Amino acid sequence: MCGIVGYVGNEEAAPILLDGLKRLEYRGYDSAGVAVVAPEGELQLVRRVGKLFRLEQELGARPLRGRIGIGHTRWATHGRPSEVNAHPHVAGPIVLVHNGIIENHMALRSALLARGARIASDTDTELVAHLIHFKLREGMVLEEAVRRSLLELRGAYAIALLSTEEPNRIVVAKSSSPLVIGVGEGAMFCGSDIPALLPYTRRMVFLEDGDFAVLERDAYRIHRIDTGERVERPLRYIDWSPVMAEKGGFKHFMLKEIHEQPRAIEDTLRGRLHREEGDIYSEEIGLSERDAQAIERVFLIACGTSHHASLVGRYYIEMLARLPAVAELASEFRGRDPIVGPRDLVVAVSQSGETIDTLVAAREAKERGARVLAVANVIGSAIPRLADASFYTHAGPEIGVASTKCFTAQLVALLMLAIWLGRRRNVLDPIKARELVEGLARLPLQMRDVIIGTKQLVSNLAKRHGNARDVLFLGRGFSYPIALEGALKLKEISYVHAEGYPAGEMKHGPIALIDVNVPVIVIAPRDRWYERTLSNLQEAMAREGKIIAIASEGDEAVHRLTQDVIEVPEVIEFLNPLLTVIPLQLYAYYVADQKGTDIDQPRNLAKTVTVE
Ligand code: AGP
Repeated sequence: MCGIVGYVGNEEAAPILLDGLKRLEYRGYDSAGVAVVAPEGELQLVRRVGKLFRLEQELGARPLRGRIGIGHTRWATHGRPSEVNAHPHVAGPIVLVHNGIIENHMALRSALLARGARIASDTDTELVAHLIHFKLREGMVLEEAVRRSLLELRGAYAIALLSTEEPNRIVVAKSSSPLVIGVGEGAMFCGSDIPALLPYTRRMVFLEDGDFAVLERDAYRIHRIDTGERVERPLRYIDWSPVMAEKGGFKHFMLKEIHEQPRAIEDTLRGRLHREEGDIYSEEIGLSERDAQAIERVFLIACGTSHHASLVGRYYIEMLARLPAVAELASEFRGRDPIVGPRDLVVAVSQSGETIDTLVAAREAKERGARVLAVANVIGSAIPRLADASFYTHAGPEIGVASTKCFTAQLVALLMLAIWLGRRRNVLDPIKARELVEGLARLPLQMRDVIIGTKQLVSNLAKRHGNARDVLFLGRGFSYPIALEGALKLKEISYVHAEGYPAGEMKHGPIALIDVNVPVIVIAPRDRWYERTLSNLQEAMAREGKIIAIASEGDEAVHRLTQDVIEVPEVIEFLNPLLTVIPLQLYAYYVADQKGTDIDQPRNLAKTVTVE
């Protein structure tokens, strides 16, 4: 979605803003702009439609002067992508950028027009700048004018603004849209996302909903919007390094992140496996032994790829902790008055920790008394802040819009949660638990083998089948969510129509699609569902579908059925999804690369979906 960067300090602001915006490019955008104020108060504003290089070219030709500024990448919601709709927006001395949606924008626009405001754009954002300007004209000081204006807004926002009359401070505010303050040496930063600030500081403060803050070169203050009361928020140290958010020689972030999976898994497992006991150490889960025994149901709520991880997690929890579990799309869970309460554990799974549907669904569950556990990758993000406890994945920053390393890290976190619950509830045999823990410890090396060992074959298959119009992915049990994930990866980055189906459902409809032009990717590792999946594979073959099988190493039966077999090491069945998904990520990547699509920022998509 949109991205915000702000800087006040001793350096020239424009290069820092541009660099920050580049680091937010992955969020998806259609226009961008920066505003820098010179010490004597002169405002310099540059906005461009399209990719950042257009803004960069302009700034190269006409450098901006000043040590305070704000920048923005826009993903259009109100008004088409155009220079006049790009941020920052100006009203009198106020210069402002905004992420999110102001819901009462129509009423605001009419009221402002009635008061004589000259509104240049179609955006909801510009209205906020005018609102503040009017309050300044009524004689309020900047901070009060901002606070009072924010009280009139409904909806989600992260805002950064400055006044040309006070070119030494940036005011920021947040309600249901992420905003972080970066605390530097003689400099303050703000951003909608951590990677924008990483090269400058790792000391970050996360605003809560309903906070606004005033940033000056050497200090910041945080207040509540409703009362104006001053509040403190913890200063956190973010251990992601800036290099983690760079491509490191890979053609795309997605490819780099696929290769980073063994490390992401190692980091997510670190310090959590108790190999002798066959158990999981985790204070972070935030439940006592008694709590674990008292839980009656588990709901896993998430969107997109995180939902697919939750579908696997659901099986893990049912099978290992013997608890009824459901995985629900957060967008369907929220707002339907779900039956959930104090005896339920709600696991909110989200890479970004900011996805609006997951956040709202978790909030609704919490309001009904359920205990909420976040499984998120971004420390201090909104969902962990709302949750009663957070069991973080440690995949490092994920930049590619298509989630890869965070998906496998989520699978590992959910498997650890299931083992932990199973042990606490005395339903998981310690010998089996030890086998699982040992299997997890071996996993990073096996993942590395799969990446290295299969990528050439997968790339060749992508060349052969890349032009297919439709692709079908089939799997049973743990492999069913992996089929869904394979199809989602392919459609989101290559724009090829793909469907993931439970193999057992094939006869109930999708089999009609299969003919000689349709590649059918069957995920058939050795597990309790193997024999039945093989029957489905044969049925698809009988309809002349082009079969690609993902199978366990040395599976002669599969080799006899099709020549296109991608092998993964044979592991305890619970770990299969962590290996079988890798060739599917690579397949999507190579098909998209061959088509020349924008892999890291696919059309119409954004990395973090903070609007409804
Ligand atoms: C994944 O490839 C997608 N881009 C998308 O489905 C994503 O998983 C979804 O938007 C949820 O995001 P989250 O994990 O940050 O909540």
